[in-house]
Amino acid sequence: MVERKIEKRKISHIEICSRKDVQARNITNCFGDIHLVHNALPEIDLSDVQLDTTLFGVKLKAPIMIEAISGGASEAAKLNSILAETAEELRIGLGLGSQRAALENPSLEYTYRIAREKAPNTLLIANLGASQIAKGYKIEEAEKAIEMISANALAIHLNPLQEAVQIEGEPEFRGCISAIRRLTSRLHVPVIAKEVGSGISKEVARILEKAGVRGIDVAGGGGTSWAAVEYYRAEEANDDIHKRLGLSFWDWGIPTAISLIEVKSATGITAVASGGIRNGQEIAKAIALGADAVGMALPLLRYALKGKEALMGELSYMIQELQTTMFLVGARNLEDLRMAPLVITGKTAEYMKSRGIGIESYRSRA
Ligand SMILES: Cc1cc2nc3c(=O)[nH]c(=O)nc-3n(C[C@H](O)[C@H](O)[C@H](O)COP(=O)(O)O)c2cc1C
Repeated sequence: MVERKIEKRKISHIEICSRKDVQARNITNCFGDIHLVHNALPEIDLSDVQLDTTLFGVKLKAPIMIEAISGGASEAAKLNSILAETAEELRIGLGLGSQRAALENPSLEYTYRIAREKAPNTLLIANLGASQIAKGYKIEEAEKAIEMISANALAIHLNPLQEAVQIEGEPEFRGCISAIRRLTSRLHVPVIAKEVGSGISKEVARILEKAGVRGIDVAGGGGTSWAAVEYYRAEEANDDIHKRLGLSFWDWGIPTAISLIEVKSATGITAVASGGIRNGQEIAKAIALGADAVGMALPLLRYALKGKEALMGELSYMIQELQTTMFLVGARNLEDLRMAPLVITGKTAEYMKSRGIGIESYRSRA
């Protein structure tokens, strides 16, 4: 019955995210504080701009990831099929949703396996929760999740806020670090640590790097709020305490741009920026701040529910916006973009100062 409960919860998450306001309200992703400097003499043609990159050993045509969303319910199979076909066609990355449901109920494996069937070549990332790997999952379960989709990497999601505000949550994170270390030392694919909307600090990033993690997906604040999602579930269940918790922590977290700066200031490992990223200019700003790739979940879920054409259309547009931004700063490729002049203002600049992060190392590029 546990597995049936997980399946139902997955469906309600997708339903709530597709029709309710689940985004941060009083914080932003802070990319408004990041300014790329216009170049009136770019000395390149727009058609010169190249977006190709290699992420976790896989060649991509653009530094973009469809973030972990779906799986573990029959409805999710169709969604994963659309996400995977689109990722394959555009040659971008795709993270699968938590595979716990399939590990506990193998009849749901097909809802994940379909992703590799539809995306034989592109980057696919398996997904498990940190609290599950700390509590009981062994190396075998992680290997099973990887094998299920022939994954190129395994993401371990860190979601303490969600577990703390969810009615059925399991806010038990003791032992996660050693569990992550066990995985990184034994698995044959890179292990990535990802948040789900509250961001990762420089202190946590250092611990993760020491534990052998090869990538960090910051999934910061300013986009989907899991306190918001769980607030709506608590409302449906008439659970006042969890409703209040959801409201209280709606805007909890490190904004995405700030989290990316924290992680880049403290580690040298691959960084994916996600959490509230909604257009090609923000993607460009994240790359300019040092991200290796950028991920999105909520808006892509909503387009995918309309169908593959809608999702392809939106992603193709964002790619064009990214190329246009790069043209306007004179960046021929992602390396040039990482060197482009950049100014950091407002809350992000103040935050960096009070966290002792050298704003000059970014500012000096302006
Ligand atoms: C419906 C839905 C389901 C999600 N499920 C997972 C999951 O199973 N595992 C995970 O690591 N992240 C999950 N996420 C979090 C996203 O991968 C992403 O980190 C987060 O939503 C922030 O990005 P966004 O603001 O673009 O939505 C989910 C997000 C959504 C919207």
